[in-house]
Order: sequence, then C-alpha cells, then structure tokens
Amino acid sequence: MGFNEIIDCFNHHRINVVLFILITLLHYSCFKKSNDIVFKDIAPIIHQKCAVCHFKGGAGPFELITYTDIKKHANKIRFSITSDFMPPWPADTSYTRFADELILTLSEKEKLLQWIEKNCPAGDTTDVELPITYSTTHFRKPDLIVPFLKPIYLQGNGNEHFFIVKMPYHLDKDTFVQYVEFVPHQKKLVHHVNGHLLKYDDNRKFNYDTGITHVLEPVDNFIETYKKMGLTYLGSRDNNPKNVLPALIPNTVYYLPGFLPLYYKENIGGFYLPKNGVFFLNDIHYGPTHQSCVDSSYLRVYFAPHRPKRFVYEGQLGTHGMSKVVPPLVIPPNTIKTFTTSLLIPADISVLAVNPHMHLLGQSFWAFAITPSRDTIPLIRIKKWNFNWQYYYVFKHPVVVPKGSVIVAIGTYNNTASNPFNPNYPPIEVKEGDGFHSMKTTDEMFQFFFQYMLYQPGDDTISLRK
Ligand code: HEC
Repeated sequence: MGFNEIIDCFNHHRINVVLFILITLLHYSCFKKSNDIVFKDIAPIIHQKCAVCHFKGGAGPFELITYTDIKKHANKIRFSITSDFMPPWPADTSYTRFADELILTLSEKEKLLQWIEKNCPAGDTTDVELPITYSTTHFRKPDLIVPFLKPIYLQGNGNEHFFIVKMPYHLDKDTFVQYVEFVPHQKKLVHHVNGHLLKYDDNRKFNYDTGITHVLEPVDNFIETYKKMGLTYLGSRDNNPKNVLPALIPNTVYYLPGFLPLYYKENIGGFYLPKNGVFFLNDIHYGPTHQSCVDSSYLRVYFAPHRPKRFVYEGQLGTHGMSKVVPPLVIPPNTIKTFTTSLLIPADISVLAVNPHMHLLGQSFWAFAITPSRDTIPLIRIKKWNFNWQYYYVFKHPVVVPKGSVIVAIGTYNNTASNPFNPNYPPIEVKEGDGFHSMKTTDEMFQFFFQYMLYQPGDDTISLRK
C-alpha cells in the first residue's frame, strides 16, 4: 500500500466515521422524539380534528375519543391520514383559509404517524381531558328537542323519497334561538333537509297539532296539502297564500351529507322563537333503499341568551337561486363542461360563510367576487369536488364585499366514464331536471350559497372561530 493509498483509505474511513456519528445522532434524536410521544400528545389532535365526527351518533363510522378507541383503529387511522382521506376538507387552503379547518398540519400528521409506528404508547393518561360532550353531540346540551310526530316509513322499492314534514313545538314563553341541529336517524339515507320556522299570530285561529304529520312532497295543490296538514290559519274564506299561511322564517333547518351545523358567536345570527310554532321541513330527501325502514330523525334546538344583534341573511346563486346558470345546466354524455353564474351585490356586505353545491358529476368549483375597482376577492376553490363533504365554510373573519361587486361562481362537471361517481354507465345526458325532482342525486345542480351581514365598520376584525 503506497502513501497515497493510505491517505485515501484514511480519508474514506474518516468520512465513514463522520457519517456513522451523524447517523447515530440523527437516529438517536428521532428515536428519542418518537419514543417520547404518548397519548396525551396526540389526544388533542384527534379530539379537535377527528372526534367532531367520530363520536357516538356522529357522522363517522366509529368513535375516536378514548385511548382504547384510538389504539383499536390505529392502522386504519394511519392509512386514512397518509392517503389524505381523513380528515375530509375539500377546500383549497392555498386559495382561502377558514375558521376551524379540518386539516392536519405536517407536524401533527408526523406526530400521529410516529406514535402509531411505536405501537401507540399510552404514557401517563391521567391528565388527558376527554371531550365528554361528544358522547351524544359535539355541542352543549340542547334546550329543546323536537321529534317527528310519527316516524316516516320508507318503502324499500329502490326509489328516492321526498317528504314534507311538520314538527310542532310548545314552550312556556317566547325565546331566541342561536341554531338548530338536524339529527338524522337513517344517516345513510337522509340526503338533504331544508326547513323553515312557521310563526303563528296568536290573535288568529289555528290548530297545527291536528292533521297529517308528513306527506310525500306534492307537485301542485300546495295550499290543499298544507290545509290537510293543519298548517294554515282557520276561518279564511279564500285560498290566497297571504291570508292563510303564517309568517315564515326561512332556512332555519339545514342538513347535507358531511354537514356540521352552522352557527356563529352569540351576537351574530339567531332568530326569535315564539312559544308556539312549527318547524316545517319543506323537504327531506331520502336516497333510494331496497329495504323498507322507518326514519325518526329529530331537531336539537339551542337557545340564545338574548335577541339577535346582527341579522344573518343568505344569498343563493345558480339553480333555483337569484342568478341564472350560463349556459343552461345540460351536460352531454362523455363531456367535461364548465358553467358560470354571477350576481350583483347591491350593498356593502360582510360575508360569513360560503357553501358550494353540486351533485355526483361535480369536478371542481371556484367562487370569487370582483369589486367595482376590478379587484378580485377570493372566496373558495375546490379542485377536487367530493359529494360526501359539503360544508358551510366559515371564514376566519368576515370578508367585506363592497356594494357594486359581482360574485362569480364557476363549476366544472365531468360526465365521462372516468368519473368514478358518475351514476350512469355508459354516461347519459344529465340536466337540472324539472321542479322539485331536480333535487334527485342523479340530476345535477349548480348552486353557491353565501351567508352575510350588512356591513358595519370593524367587521373584518371579528373572529369567527368557535
Ligand atoms: C367531517 C366528519 C369527519 C371528520 C372530521 C373525520 N372523519 Fe373519519 N370518517 C367520516 C365518515 C363519514 C367516514 C365514513 C366514510 C365512508 O365510508 O366513505 C369516515 C371514515 C374514516 C375511516 C375509514 C373507516 C373505514 O373502515 O374505512 C377512518 C380510518 C377515519 N375516518 C379516521 C379519521 C381520522 C383519523 C380523522 C381525523 C384526523 C377523521 N377520520 C376525521 C367522517 C369524518
């Protein structure tokens, strides 16, 4: 071995020694770190980002509350978070950010994976606080429960069903409501619910406790149907809706798959609840079933401590809304097609939340506002539409949209066989459908809802976090 070769060998060896030390250090530090992660470190992540749905009676298929729950499902949890299947959050966080986002940060994900990798060490669990309220609901105890007067019988004939339902209630005195939660009984079948509050004038005659409790949604003769349900005032000589129907507070009950009830802090939103009234589901839509069953869904009502201070309104673009879909929503087979809809905003408003809606052919969704001075205000972008997760996305702070702005929504639909959710194989022409039955899952819709308040200075600094 010559001198040069000895030097070479030494150099080579030295590098190896340095590498060895580095790797050992790195390994030790990683090992140390992951070894330290115990249940109390990962519990808050799971409780905040998973347990909102994974509690008993929640949307998720099993509970993720206790150490035992979480350990039992550890392998599935690993799979669901590495594949980004869970937690479900379709909105593009590089476009707009929302309050209480259901996403894991990289470090949270890393922590969970390392903990599972080490076979879920329990550590000292005495100080771990379990969110006990999740055992029945992830909100506080409701102030009022309003059930169906009779369960709804769903015939297992493979058809979808649309019902209208009345849900009367009686209280000792008038009060205020912060929000209403619809609790589906047949979770797999309830597709959407839309409901209002009927406010009766105590000086007029009515008897909404009599009559039919629910009927298949009528296509015409609405007043006759409402009369049979006991919803109309008694003693009116004509059928003029203005004379026979009580006042209505619209959209007080709302439900969609994956939907978490929408509410804001105490002084935003809410409504007046007279001591006698009816929650009126003007429709509840059940998906098709081949097995007959009954549905006993119900409402949980949460009272507010005082009258609403800031009123919340809702705007709606697109199908059945305040603006037309352009071109009309017809999606030929084997095409990917884009539609737009836009609405002029006539006053300064503070947008609180947005909700895009499409059915199974939806591919992507994008909404923004253009101000009179041609600035763009981003609202929401969903690159990969998923029918199962249709949230009302609440902004971190109200987004101020000045008077004269135009809100634009752009939706792309994939009616080819490459869309795994396409209900038709081979694809067929799909359109908006007619009247009520346009709400069938296999027809399409293009809608953009936004909740807002009339603007007041300082709105953009209000925190909408829960
Ligand atoms: C918005 C509600 C929601 C949130 C938040 C949520 N899940 Fe889920 N999860 C569901 C629903 C609903 C399903 C059933 C989905 C399906 O069958 O397609 C599900 C399914 C799963 C599954 C698959 C079960 C199976 O057998 O295939 C796992 C695992 C899971 N969730 C873990 C998690 C974890 C871990 C988190 C938090 C990081 C989380 N989920 C957050 C609602 C939620």
